[in-house]
Amino acid sequence: MVKKTPFRCHIFVCVNDRQGTRKSCADGQGVEIRQILKDRFHQMQLPPNSVRVSQSLCMGLCNEGPNLMIYPRGIWYSSVGIEDIDTILKKVESLLAESSKSIE
Ligand code: FES
Repeated sequence: MVKKTPFRCHIFVCVNDRQGTRKSCADGQGVEIRQILKDRFHQMQLPPNSVRVSQSLCMGLCNEGPNLMIYPRGIWYSSVGIEDIDTILKKVESLLAESSKSIE
């Protein structure tokens, strides 16, 4: 059964870990970034189904990791670090504001 996504922004953070056999997003801060994003969005107390932060396995651009994608807009961030969290939060806030306007 095909359904439309219930989340206005669904963020996938690659946490794939190849244990050093090849570069992977866990070599960077993928795991920490995912947890910080989850915590920050939780603190914002957004309406239900506004934002979901999920971990993903390999998204195919391992050498550019850590990688993060915002669905359904197809926005992609590479070489993400903790220092990029505020930028990502602002982007998501702007996407939520845009989607609110389109709903009105
Ligand atoms: S390991 Fe993250 S994109 Fe491949």
